[in-house]
Amino acid sequence: MDREDIFRITTRKSLRPVIEWLDDPSVSEIMINGHSEIYIERAGMIEKTTARFDDEESLGAAARNIAQYTNKRITPTTARLDSRLPDGSRVHMVFPRCSRMGICIAIRKFSRQALTLDILTRSGSLTMEAREYLETVVGLGRNMIISGGTGTGKTSLLNAISAMIPANERIIVIEDSSELQLQQPHVVCLETASADRNGEGQVTIRDLFHSALRMRPDRIVIGECRGGEALDLIQAMTSGHGGSMSTLHANNGRDALSRLETLALMSGVELPLSALRAQISSAIEVIVQTSRLANGRRMVTEISEVSQLNINGSYTVRPIFEASTLNQRDELALSWTGSVSEFGHLLARHGLDQGLELTHSIFSQAKPVNSGEAGI
Ligand SMILES: Nc1ncnc2c1ncn2[C@@H]1O[C@H](COP(=O)(O)OP(=O)(O)OP(=O)(O)O)[C@@H](O)[C@H]1O
Ligand SMILES: [Mg+2]
Repeated sequence: MDREDIFRITTRKSLRPVIEWLDDPSVSEIMINGHSEIYIERAGMIEKTTARFDDEESLGAAARNIAQYTNKRITPTTARLDSRLPDGSRVHMVFPRCSRMGICIAIRKFSRQALTLDILTRSGSLTMEAREYLETVVGLGRNMIISGGTGTGKTSLLNAISAMIPANERIIVIEDSSELQLQQPHVVCLETASADRNGEGQVTIRDLFHSALRMRPDRIVIGECRGGEALDLIQAMTSGHGGSMSTLHANNGRDALSRLETLALMSGVELPLSALRAQISSAIEVIVQTSRLANGRRMVTEISEVSQLNINGSYTVRPIFEASTLNQRDELALSWTGSVSEFGHLLARHGLDQGLELTHSIFSQAKPVNSGEAGI
């Protein structure tokens, strides 16, 4: 029996109260709030279960097993910890130092069937037209941010969109805990590492970013921007690593840019706000917004292009697609705002001027219509 088998058996044993949902592909998240309260998410909706662990001790044993799988240890001073289950599910745990309810564990289930663009289009999370637009801008090597609230589908969408990156490019993926599954032949996946027992050996996203820049990347993909690495990403995007991508927590396209500002300022590098804004507006070219609706449905609700700063120094964000209309099923649907893409003139240079059917008018080389233009 190898190490993987041993962990698979011990983890499953210690997670017995929730094993039913670990094995159920229709369950996407398992939320354990102390030993006696367990919720699950199915089809985008949260349900309370009657399952429980015997006591905090047995929940603690499960937490230890999960931590050990990624070579992490829980000590009396551990407050929070990221790990993974042997099947690839992402786990975050918060311990009693920071939780009144006992040990809290959130398991984001690894889905064996990754959400592909076909699946997203079929389910209405994306329209064919928006998909063709995204395919084109990825092919054109435009820099993209996928923005959205927690659990709205940012990582899944990034994964699906990454499939459009040409196979001859060298892609470096940097993540806190490995979630993305890029299918290209030439992908280097880097993962952060936490400090050891003596507080040494921590490797951050920023550290890995610096490594990535020395490893001849064509594109850099950062799973999620949560701190000072935002500045590294912005600078890489403006210095020849076109087509880089990341996700970010924000409520809409404009918020995503303000959030990037805040994160970039966390890097500790002193930069006048006007200079930072100028860098952000030239780095980020496309923002894709994901949302979870009240009925649990997840979808893309906005795709915008970012252009030069306004004369007054504020961002210009032009929605190209917006979820504002209803489809035949009376559901919110993504539709073209009528605003023309700024990238039309690049199509011929990249050999992409053939084959565009649906989005032909979106990329028409007419002067962009400034509908929905907004500054902050
Ligand atoms: N378009 C979609 N349709 C149905 N389910 C989806 C869709 N997008 C994502 N999901 C499911 O929703 C859950 C959350 O997705 P994902 O991890 O991509 O979200 P996230 O925004 O990256 O979350 P976080 O903020 O925690 O990183 C997953 O179980 C995923 O399978
Ligand atoms: Mg995510």
